[in-house]
Amino acid sequence: MNSLEHIAIIMDGNGRWAKEKGLPRTAGHKKGVEKVREIAIYANKLGIKCLTLYAFSTENWKRPEKEVNYLMSLPKVFFKAYLKELMENNIKVEMIGEWSRIPDEAKSIFKAAIKETSKNTGMILNFAMNYGGRDEIVSACKKYAKDYKAGKAKSLNEETFKNYLMTAKLPDVDLLIRTSNEIRLSNFLLYEVAYSEFIFIDRYWPDFSCQDLDDCIDQYNKRGRRFGDVTNK
Ligand code: IPE
Ligand code: IPE
Ligand code: MG
Repeated sequence: MNSLEHIAIIMDGNGRWAKEKGLPRTAGHKKGVEKVREIAIYANKLGIKCLTLYAFSTENWKRPEKEVNYLMSLPKVFFKAYLKELMENNIKVEMIGEWSRIPDEAKSIFKAAIKETSKNTGMILNFAMNYGGRDEIVSACKKYAKDYKAGKAKSLNEETFKNYLMTAKLPDVDLLIRTSNEIRLSNFLLYEVAYSEFIFIDRYWPDFSCQDLDDCIDQYNKRGRRFGDVTNK
C-alpha cells in the first residue's frame, strides 16, 4: 500500500451535469457544494490528512458575471449549512489562492471558518479559491526576492522554495483526481503534482460518490510509485 496523506480534486463538470438535466448551470454548482460536504466528511473518516479542492481558478473570472457572482456566493452557502458539521468532525478549513480579488463577503466567511476550525486536528479541508498554479509560482518568486533584498532569504533550493508556496505547510500531493473526463490540469497545483498519481474519472462532480473515492484509492494503492528509483534494488 502506498502512503496517502494528501488528495487533491479538480471538481469539474457541474455545468454539464446541470445541462444534461435541463437545469441552469447554477443548479450544478449547488449540487457540487453538497458533494463537497459528503466527500470531505468521508475523506476525514478515512484518515486522509489533507483534501485540497479546486473551487475557483484564476481563469474562472472569464465566465459570465452572473455565474461568477453565484460561485462567489457559495462559500456562504457552504459554511452556513455545514460549518457545524465540520466542527463536529474535527475538520480544519484552510484556503490557498489570491485573496485580494475575492469579494469581501466571501473572504470574511472564509476567514471566520478558518479561525473557528483552526484548533481542529482532523483532516485539513483546503479550498483553492481564486487559485492559479502559475500565479502561485510567480508570487513565491516575488516573496523570495523580497526576502533576499532584505537579507532574510536562505539559499534557494527545492526545500526552501517550497516554503514560499501557498501549500508550504501541506504534505506533497499524493493523488490528484479530476472528474468529468477532461484530461488536463487547468493551472492546478503545477509545482505540487510533480510526483502525484493522476486519476481522471468519467463522471461529473455532482455524481462523484464515496464509492468512487474508494475506487480511486484502490487504484492508487496498486500504482508503483518509484520517484525515479528502481523497484527492486
Ligand atoms: C466545475 O464545474 C466548477 C467550477 C469550475 C467552478 P464547471 O462549471 O467547470 O462545469 P463544466 O465543466 O462547465 O461542465
Ligand atoms: C477547473 O475547471 C477549475 C475548477 C474546477 C475550479 P474549469 O472547468 O475551469 O477548467 P477548463 O476551463 O475546462 O480547463
Ligand atoms: Mg469545467
